[in-house]
This record gives sequence, structure tokens and C-alpha cells, in this order.
Amino acid sequence: MFEQLATPKGDPILSLIAEYRNDPRENKIDLGIGVYRNDAGITPVMQAVHDAEALLLANQTTKAYQGLTGDEAFNEEILKLVLTESQCKRAIALQTPGASGALRMIADLIAVTAPGSTVWISDPSYINHRPIMEKAGLTVKTYPYLNAETRLVNEPAMLATLESLGPKDVVLLHGCCHNPSGADISLDSWHRIAELATKNGFLPFIDIAYQGLGDSLEADAQGLQVLADAVEEMVISTSCSKNFGLYRDRTGAAIILSKNKQIASNARAKMCELSRGSYSMPPAHGAAIVHAILTSESLTKSWRDELDAMNRRVNGLRSALVKAFREKTQTERFDYFGQHKGMFSLTGLSDDIIAELKHNHGIYIVGGGRVNVAGLKESEIDTLVEAFIAAGA
Ligand SMILES: Cc1ncc(COP(=O)(O)O)c(C=O)c1O
Repeated sequence: MFEQLATPKGDPILSLIAEYRNDPRENKIDLGIGVYRNDAGITPVMQAVHDAEALLLANQTTKAYQGLTGDEAFNEEILKLVLTESQCKRAIALQTPGASGALRMIADLIAVTAPGSTVWISDPSYINHRPIMEKAGLTVKTYPYLNAETRLVNEPAMLATLESLGPKDVVLLHGCCHNPSGADISLDSWHRIAELATKNGFLPFIDIAYQGLGDSLEADAQGLQVLADAVEEMVISTSCSKNFGLYRDRTGAAIILSKNKQIASNARAKMCELSRGSYSMPPAHGAAIVHAILTSESLTKSWRDELDAMNRRVNGLRSALVKAFREKTQTERFDYFGQHKGMFSLTGLSDDIIAELKHNHGIYIVGGGRVNVAGLKESEIDTLVEAFIAAGA
């Protein structure tokens, strides 16, 4: 049966990771990987997660099945993290295996409820947005997003495309910390998108995978909350991979906001029916950790403090990059590093420059030029800036 299958081409990010690992140079720098790292180059288990795991270990009495909707206390808490109190009254969350699972469940839900819908994703967008939507059977088109000159959002072009959309369209937006560009939508534009969604009837679909890693937990959800206040229906995928550091525990949620809780619950029930046909129910461990943290005042404080420190580290690196680039180039060409939010910045570096940075300087960046600022150590900033200039960036 399987003889007909071709050997797949290697994943470019995974092969870059392998190349980096095998590079003997001591001063090599990995900016390719998509995870947060501390100044020691480690993706740490957060203290609140350690503490919650100890509680789970001591108190867990069963590993019996939990049910299709997952951990309901987790679902309640995640809703409160993303939406305002009044929005929570007409919304419901479904625990999923990461935001990836949420993206797929929502895509499946749209495909069965409104077949023929087109999902509009930003150009560029998270590398998995298109394949997930297409595998659910949806048509995918792109709206303009990045201004190649400024490296910031081309808001007039984006809004002009959204202006032309209607009820058969779904608009997938990044809630904060846009991946791969780092360029976020201004609050004014979130208001404008809200007006367009109300007027033209397209469904907003918000993917928020980095809440708390831009400005703060509250500020990072502001844009999507503006939209949620304005529209009758909206869908959200959210992740605990980055802000709780639970990457491998596959913890996330699909949120449905509708006219009332009953309609949202019906949509969730449909997603449960769909998940029954694939992974059935989500893994319990990560959600139990998040549930334990968010229902304990002291663990919540510990988690928020550590998340704020992660956020400060990334924003500190961004400011230091801007300062070093200004000093060394006497230009403001790289100021975008300070204007971007979250872990990533899309540099727009050419393939040749990316190759030169790897070969001559041991600096690893994925094709397309996405840099993971959170992969940098403070002590590496001058080396990085000098290498960029030497390579002609
Ligand atoms: C924008 C975006 N959405 C979704 C995901 C998937 O997250 P998860 O690991 O929770 O499945 C990522 C992960 O990098 C992402 O960047």
C-alpha cells in the first residue's frame, strides 16, 4: 500500500535545527527556533508550572477519561483570560491539543456549517495557517499585510481588501505578536475591522498564540476584545504553549462567541462531534496545570510575574538591538525591531544574506528572514549587529 508514497522533503526548520546542533563553532547563534529562550539559552519550565505539577502529582486520584470537552475549569479560566466579563457570557471554550488543534477544529466547524467559505489569511502568516485551513476543505486567500519598506503593517492595503469581503468570508487575524512579522495591528485598525465585519458580515477568526508576550496579558487581548464587542459572532484559537511554556503538553482552546451562550454551546457540541472522529478528546495534563495555576491566587501571581519577566527580557533585547543598530549604522533602518511585538521580527533579509550569516558568522535564521529575538542572549547583540552589517543587511 505505502510503496507509492514518495520520501518527503526534509522540513526546512528542522534541518536548520540539525545544522545548528552540528555546528562546532562556540559563538553560533540560533534565531530560527520558534520557542522562548532565557538569557542562558534555555526554554525553562516556569516555576508556577513546576508547583502546579507537584500539586497534581500529590492529589491526582484517577486518569480515567475526562470527556470530549476536556477540563471544564480550564475552559472557564481560559475564556476569562481572553475575553471581557460581558463577552464571556455569550462565549464558550473547548479544550484542544494546542492552538493547532483549535485552528483545525474551528476550520472543520466552518467547513461543515458554511461549506464554500473562504478563509483570508495575512500575507505573510503563520506557516501552518494555510495547510490547516486547506486540509479542512476551505479555500484560502491572502490579504496584504506587511509594508516591505517599513516592515510594519500596511493598514490601508489590508483594510481595502477587508472592505471588499462579505458573509461567505472568514478573516483570520493574529490577536497579537504576529508570526512571522512581529508587526501588529493598531487599535485604530481593530476598530475599523470591527466596523467592516459588522457592515459586511464576514466572520472574524482570531488566532492568539502569544498573549502576554507583547505588552501584557490585558493589552495583548485588547484588539480582539474591541472586535468581540462589535460583532455578533467570532471564533478564537488560543495557545498555552508560549505563555505557560507548555509546548509539548499540547494545551490550547477553541473559543466560540455568539449571540448567546446556547448558540455558542451548539457550535461547541458540533466541534466535539468532529473531534470524536479524529483525536476524540484532548490530553489532560497541560490543561490541569493551567487550571491549577489560574484557580490559585499565589500560583497566578507567580506565573504572571515570570511571564512579565519574559516579556521584559524580549522587549529589552528589542530596545538594545535598536540602539546598537543606530550606533553602528548611523541610520534608523532597523528601528522596526523596537516597533515589533512578541518573539519574532521579519527582517526581509535575502537568501544570500541569510546564507552568509550562517556560513561566515554561525548565525542561523530561517528562510524568509524571520528572526526569533527571544533566541538571543544580551551578550550576543553586538556580534549580531556587526554580522548583519558585514553581510550587507
Ligand atoms: C500564530 C500561531 N498560531 C498557532 C500556533 C500553534 O500553537 P500550538 O503549539 O499551541 O499548537 C503557533 C505556534 O507557533 C503560532 O505561532
